[in-house]
Amino acid sequence: MVQVNSNYLKLKAGYLFPEIARRVKAFSAAHPEAAIIRLGIGDVTEPLPEACRTAMKAAVDAMGTPEGFHGYGPEQGYPWLREAIARHDFQARSCAVDPEEIFVSDGSKCDSANILDILGTGNRIAVTDPVYPVYVDSNVMAGRTGEADEGGRYGGLTYLPISAENGFTARIPEETVDLIYLCFPNNPTGAVATREHLAEWVAYARANGSLILFDAAYEAFIQDPSLPHSIYEIEGARDCAIEFRSFSKNAGFTGTRCAFTVVPRGLMGTSDSGEAVELWGLWNRRQSTKFNGVSYIVQRGAEAVYSPEGQAQVRELIRFYMENAAIIRRELAAAGLEVHGGEQAPYVWAKTPAGLDSWGFFDLLLGQAHVVGTPGSGFGAAGDGYFRLSAFNSRANVEEAMKRIQAALAG
Ligand code: MLT
Repeated sequence: MVQVNSNYLKLKAGYLFPEIARRVKAFSAAHPEAAIIRLGIGDVTEPLPEACRTAMKAAVDAMGTPEGFHGYGPEQGYPWLREAIARHDFQARSCAVDPEEIFVSDGSKCDSANILDILGTGNRIAVTDPVYPVYVDSNVMAGRTGEADEGGRYGGLTYLPISAENGFTARIPEETVDLIYLCFPNNPTGAVATREHLAEWVAYARANGSLILFDAAYEAFIQDPSLPHSIYEIEGARDCAIEFRSFSKNAGFTGTRCAFTVVPRGLMGTSDSGEAVELWGLWNRRQSTKFNGVSYIVQRGAEAVYSPEGQAQVRELIRFYMENAAIIRRELAAAGLEVHGGEQAPYVWAKTPAGLDSWGFFDLLLGQAHVVGTPGSGFGAAGDGYFRLSAFNSRANVEEAMKRIQAALAG
C-alpha cells in the first residue's frame, strides 16, 4: 500500500476555519430558521472596486482577440504589475525594493506555507502564541515539528506568548532561533508593531543570522501614519526578511486571488555544506517549477488597484471596514467585554466573559445570538479565553450582530 505523509496525523482535528464551518453547518441544519451572521473567517464582503472590474473586463475582451490573447505568463508575474507594486508599495515609502524582487502569486497563505520548500529542515522555528494557524500547520505537515502536547503545542517549535501584558507583541527570545514568523497588523489579535519593535527583531535576526517571515497582509488597515507598513522600512531588513503581501483584504481579492512575496536580492542562507546561497534564486526556481502564475485577467485587476481611481476605491473599502471595527469595539466594550485590536487592523480580539472559554463563548454566541466568531484557542493555547470578531461584513450585519451579542450577554 502507498505510504502517507504521517506528519499529517500529528495535526489537530481540522483546520480552524473548516472546523468552524462544520459546526455552523450542523447548527444551521438543526435550526434552519436562524439567520446566522458570520464574523468568523476574515473574508471580505464588499464588491470588487470598480477600477479592478473595469480592468478585468478589458482584459477578458483582450483575451478574445488574437493580438490581446495571453497564454502562460511569467511565473513571477507580469513586469507591469511588479513595477506598479515596487513603485507604490515600497519605493513611495522609501523602501529599496526592486520589481524583480517581487513574486506575484495566488495568495499569502500559500506563499507563507510554500516558502518552507526552500528552507532547510534543521531550522529552529519561532511562532507567536496565538498565531495564524497556517505557519504552524505547514511546519507540522513538512515534518519540522514533533507531536502536539495536551495543550496543542508542537514539540520542536519555540512559542513566543503574546498577551495584553506585552501589548500582543512578542518579547525577543533569549535563545537563538533561525526562522521567525511575524504578522503585523496581527492576525488574530489586531495588534500592530511600532518601528522600534520591528527594529529590535531586525537587530536580533541580523545578529543571529535568522530569517524573519513577515506577513503584512493587513498593512492597508494601518491608520496611524507613524507606524511602518513594511519590514523594509527598517534599516537592515533586506538582509534578514521576506515579506508577504496580498490584494485579498485591501481590494477584496479573496475570491479572485492575487498576492505577492518580496524576496530581496542578496538575502542569504547556508547550504548543508556551509556554502552561502541566495534565497531569491531558490524561490525563483521553486516558483518556476511548481507555479504557473496568476491569470492575466486577475493581474490586470490588481494593477488597477494602483490607478488613482483604484487607490480612492480601496481607501473607501478600508474606511468602511475600519468603521465596522470601531462599531464592534465600541459595542463589545459597552457589553462589558475587554477589547483589543480593531484600531489598526480589521480584527477585534475580545476577552471572553468570566467562566467561559473560547469554544464555550463560540457556542453561546452561535446558539443565542446566531453570530459566528473565531475562538481564540483555535490560534494557539495562549488564545484561550479570547475570541476574534472580523470587521468584514455589511454595516447592517455588523450592527445587528452587536445588538444580538449584547442581548445574549445581558440574558
Ligand atoms: C482569517 O480569518 O484568519 C483569514 O481568513 C486568514 C486568511 O486570509 O487565510
